[in-house]
Amino acid sequence: MIQLLLDLQSELHWISKEAIEELSHRLKIPTSQIFRVASFYKAMSLSPVGRHKVCVCMGTACQVRGAQRLLDTTELKLGIKQGQTTSDSNFTLNRVNCLGCCAIGPVIVADDEYHGRVDSKKVEKILEQLASDS
Ligand code: FES
Repeated sequence: MIQLLLDLQSELHWISKEAIEELSHRLKIPTSQIFRVASFYKAMSLSPVGRHKVCVCMGTACQVRGAQRLLDTTELKLGIKQGQTTSDSNFTLNRVNCLGCCAIGPVIVADDEYHGRVDSKKVEKILEQLASDS
């Protein structure tokens, strides 16, 4: 079941209620059990996730180096607030508390790539690069 859920996550970027119901029907496992597994693992999302994931670190070390301004710029540029996905499903923006690389803060992770000492201009370039990869 877990491998099928991961396959769904990989292909659709999230696991819908309909997908869980279909899986339940095929595997003859109650939807509640599948839902419990899917909601347990961080690698699985029960709400739509964009093709590109952007994460702004809001830990203390990054905050003293301008992380709030960076988050504001990113939200403005994408037209969404943290925790949301753009209407074209291109971007999902999240915040985290520390990425473990405080010395290069403020830090942004874009599609699993870490970017350190990011300022507003650099974040715009990162987002433009991601958008052009879509
Ligand atoms: S506080 Fe941002 S990486 Fe640690």
